[in-house]
Amino acid sequence: MDRYAVIGSPIGHTKSPLIHTAFAKNSGQALEYTALEAPLGGFAAAATAFREAGGRGMNVTAPFKLDAFAYATDLTDRAHLAGAVNALKFEGGKVYADNFDGVGLLRDVEQNLGRLMCGKRVLLMGGGGAARGALQPFLAAQPAELVLVNRTAEKAQALAAQFAPYGNIVGLGYADLDHRSFDIVVNATSASLRSELPPVHTDVFRPDSLAYELAYGKGLTPFLRLAQGAGVGRLADGVGMLVEQAAKAFFWWRGVRPDTRPMIAQLTVPLT
Ligand code: ATR
Repeated sequence: MDRYAVIGSPIGHTKSPLIHTAFAKNSGQALEYTALEAPLGGFAAAATAFREAGGRGMNVTAPFKLDAFAYATDLTDRAHLAGAVNALKFEGGKVYADNFDGVGLLRDVEQNLGRLMCGKRVLLMGGGGAARGALQPFLAAQPAELVLVNRTAEKAQALAAQFAPYGNIVGLGYADLDHRSFDIVVNATSASLRSELPPVHTDVFRPDSLAYELAYGKGLTPFLRLAQGAGVGRLADGVGMLVEQAAKAFFWWRGVRPDTRPMIAQLTVPLT
């Protein structure tokens, strides 16, 4: 049977085996998908051992997305721009690498949540790997303006300069947002992982905004609570992004597009 795995450290919390096993069952694909833990610094050895044992592909999660980037022989432009890899495909001596996080997020926002980005004002919060992965897919969706805001403003400015060839983007610090408001506000900072609130003013929200939290399974994070308190009607966490990026990897490996809706419904925890 074809073998796939998700690799990370720690990996106990991962939902990827559940998601891919359900995709395989529902699409009649015979495959095995497991979770692999590797020690820090041990990514390449673990990936090579998996390949040599017949592994066909891997998902890559923290803290190995940069190791996977270095391990790849063939990177997509998207992965190159994201500076990180979240999926590998092993074929012959080649290690093909892609990053589906940003396109998975975009698909969740546009298809599942019904907010097309074209012509809209979008605020992306954060300047780390998670935000970086979203930049090119977001710009390709042609928002009227993409504002990248980061606690360290220089990082946002540098990223905006780098991604300027792909669309209308500006990089700012939180204090520079003035009273601008946005149709879509995405929290791609790591603040929610520590129950912290990025220093964003409620002026960024309108009642018809979508407030999207990349973290998932954490209920109402401080960011979502802030948005709710500001009267935002549509709140979402990253469970749809998780399932959509998995579906993109599954299609890349197997040539079959899984139905994501039942899995999103199964994994969704009410935001209370
Ligand atoms: P990830 O890979 O999840 O993006 P990362 O590369 O460590 O993680 O980046 C974390 C991001 O969250 C950074 O943009 C960080 O801001 P700085 O660049 O200024 O450090 C942001 N971040 C973390 N905690 C935050 C907080 N409490 N408020 C605002 N931004 C925060």
